[in-house]
Amino acid sequence: MREPRALEAPVRMSGEVVKGFGRGSKVLGIPTANLPHDALKQLPRSFETGIYFGWATVDGVGPYKMVTSVGWNPQFANTSMTVEPHLLHSFPDDFYGSSIKIVIVGHLRAEAKFESLESLIDEIHLDISSAGELLDCEPYSFLRSA
Ligand SMILES: Cc1cc2nc3c(=O)[nH]c(=O)nc-3n(C[C@H](O)[C@H](O)[C@H](O)COP(=O)(O)O)c2cc1C
Repeated sequence: MREPRALEAPVRMSGEVVKGFGRGSKVLGIPTANLPHDALKQLPRSFETGIYFGWATVDGVGPYKMVTSVGWNPQFANTSMTVEPHLLHSFPDDFYGSSIKIVIVGHLRAEAKFESLESLIDEIHLDISSAGELLDCEPYSFLRSA
């Protein structure tokens, strides 16, 4: 279980789900509902890159538990910053074009480059299970309707 850090104030972001590089589902087996580049301006100026958790709604349905990376994906040396939420819910289909709203309530860890893809996948699974447990507890559960 990760040692979380609560944010001083929840951070809200929204936008239309866009396609990433397509590695989330295919390479990692962990689909992400990426926010458009434009949504980055919704982040507070001092916001640090990293792995965070919170709540998400899709087309007004939810809230679902979510874990998200905010940053540069050092494993893949991306040249632009992205926000890539993974929802702790299995959806029957892709939902590109849907409207996603997220509220980020806590920080889990810094982004990192691991020695193998398997290690990255293991770390993301630990992020997911940690977020799942943390979001059942105060203060994070309370913020589901924030
Ligand atoms: C919970 C979570 C943790 C992540 N941690 C890292 C990380 O430590 N390093 C990294 O390079 N990418 C990290 N990522 C980003 C994934 O590498 C990225 O979502 C994946 O490559 C899919 O990208 P794509 O949708 O653009 O194809 C993380 C993603 C999630 C959802």
